[in-house]
Amino acid sequence: MLLRYIILMAIMVNVSFQRIFSPQDALKCGSDRQFQTHFKPQLKQLSSEVRQIIEHIISPTNAGATYESLAYFVDKFGPRMAGTKQLEDSIDFMLDWLKKDGHDNVHGENVTIPKWNRGTEWAMMVKPRVKNLSILGLGYSVGTNGKTLEAPIMVVKSFDELDRRANEVKGKIVVYNFDFVSYGISVRYRSKGASHAAKYGAIAALIRSVTPFSINSPHTGTNSYDVNVTKIPAVSITVEDAQLFQRFTDRKEEVIVRLYSENNLEKEKAISRNTVSEIIGSKYPNQVVLVSGHLDSWDVGQGAMDDGGGAFISWRALSVVKQLGLKPKRTLRSVLWTAEEFGLIGAYEYARRHKNEMKDFVLAMESDIGTFAPVGITYSGTNLTSQCVIHEIMKMMAPINATRLSISTEGSDTEAFAENGVPITSLDTANEKYFYFHHSQGDTMTVENRDDLDKCLALWTSVSYALAALDLPIPW
Ligand SMILES: *[C@@H]1O[C@H](CO)[C@@H](O)[C@H](O)[C@H]1NC(C)=O
Ligand SMILES: *[C@@H]1O[C@H](CO)[C@@H](O)[C@H](O)[C@H]1NC(C)=O
Ligand SMILES: *[C@@H]1O[C@H](CO)[C@@H](O)[C@H](O)[C@H]1NC(C)=O
Ligand SMILES: *[C@@H]1O[C@H](CO)[C@@H](O)[C@H](O)[C@H]1NC(C)=O
Ligand SMILES: *[C@@H]1O[C@H](CO)[C@@H](O)[C@H](O)[C@H]1NC(C)=O
Ligand SMILES: [Zn+2]
Repeated sequence: MLLRYIILMAIMVNVSFQRIFSPQDALKCGSDRQFQTHFKPQLKQLSSEVRQIIEHIISPTNAGATYESLAYFVDKFGPRMAGTKQLEDSIDFMLDWLKKDGHDNVHGENVTIPKWNRGTEWAMMVKPRVKNLSILGLGYSVGTNGKTLEAPIMVVKSFDELDRRANEVKGKIVVYNFDFVSYGISVRYRSKGASHAAKYGAIAALIRSVTPFSINSPHTGTNSYDVNVTKIPAVSITVEDAQLFQRFTDRKEEVIVRLYSENNLEKEKAISRNTVSEIIGSKYPNQVVLVSGHLDSWDVGQGAMDDGGGAFISWRALSVVKQLGLKPKRTLRSVLWTAEEFGLIGAYEYARRHKNEMKDFVLAMESDIGTFAPVGITYSGTNLTSQCVIHEIMKMMAPINATRLSISTEGSDTEAFAENGVPITSLDTANEKYFYFHHSQGDTMTVENRDDLDKCLALWTSVSYALAALDLPIPW
């Protein structure tokens, strides 16, 4: 998950337009005629199928199946960065798997993507003593042109401090040692820190990793250069090294850092694919309930959490519906996005190509905040009847303790759908530790939990199936 989502989150933090659908809201459903007379009776009928879905997934025979399949995939392919053969091989493998699982209309859809390479990169502090630094160049960063840069550093805690001390910046390597407030707020230094420093003549920017917790792990992510500003290397450093630099600086000790980086963006673009499969609706095949996650990851870690788990509960939701022989009236479509990490590229390409069908999408769901213990979902639609429908479906999630409905416009790839007027849903999980692992070597299968993955799958399958199974026009 990345940049634009994050900026959205930053806005959310400020004006907080995420709210829980409260018992007071639920009371309003009691007097919503349309909901009471049309939807509630049908949802009641569907509740036995939803119970069947949940019981099937958590039954002793099937428990752990999502973990096992995700582990197999992640172990086999490792990280799947956009532009790599690993990602394309993993897409080919997924296409075969979906066919074997009996999905309909399994295919890839081409997407033109940027090709960024990390190459070799290293940094060391050479004064006041020699210390190697754990670094990760940021996505889209330039390198050091085959040279090794060496310069004194200048540590700032904020953009305000940088602006105030602008006349000291020229020729320095700027270090951002901001306090972690929230991802949405702190990530601004990662996305804009290099451009801001370059404007005042810095030769590189070292940016503290955007995480509340560290064991000397750098976290990557995209950097976005302003137009007309000199592109300087944008590099993440660890929380530990940022704080070390701060202490030396506070003691007025000069720190000199050496940096070498081959990071580069190729001129030529590459072709990747969104991975698409369906269960075609029996009555309204043109109406679509979309479930999704992104298959690409960063090149560090294994992309198990971001976003292997989200991708796997999405396609497996269709597999479960097939296994149970359920026949949704609308089409259930799974899309595993490509190149999310480089800017929601697969999803935006998809939205462009399918613009004419947007009116037929009932809901666009994405899981990209980690498949930890689920607490519920978020939903962006504003129509009360539709909120009551989803709220009623969420009540059926009591056996897995994940009944919460929040009204929120939050999403990452699904933003491309929201812009076309499609309501969006995100999985909601107890993901306090998400940013410990995010975009780092720590994103491995060890973060994933068998039971939590089962519960996430049960929730994801239930919500998407129930909406696809309703034999009523859904009032969005
Ligand atoms: C998709 O891209 C591949 C090259 O990677 C090309 O061979 C194929 O023709 C393209 N398909 C479509 C439908 O454009
Ligand atoms: C820094 O890393 C280099 C290359 O890996 C290694 O040769 C060197 O010994 C390390 N220096 C220190 C001080 O750890
Ligand atoms: C960038 O530079 C060009 C040419 O000097 C200018 O036309 C354009 O307005 C600049 N863009 C921004 C965002 O400053
Ligand atoms: C159910 O979930 C809530 C958070 O949504 C949590 O506080 C509570 O402990 C959970 N209960 C059980 C029995 O797991
Ligand atoms: C919700 O949608 C239904 C069907 O389109 C419509 O009749 C109803 O007025 C809407 N409710 C609100 C509060 O907009
Ligand atoms: Zn993600």
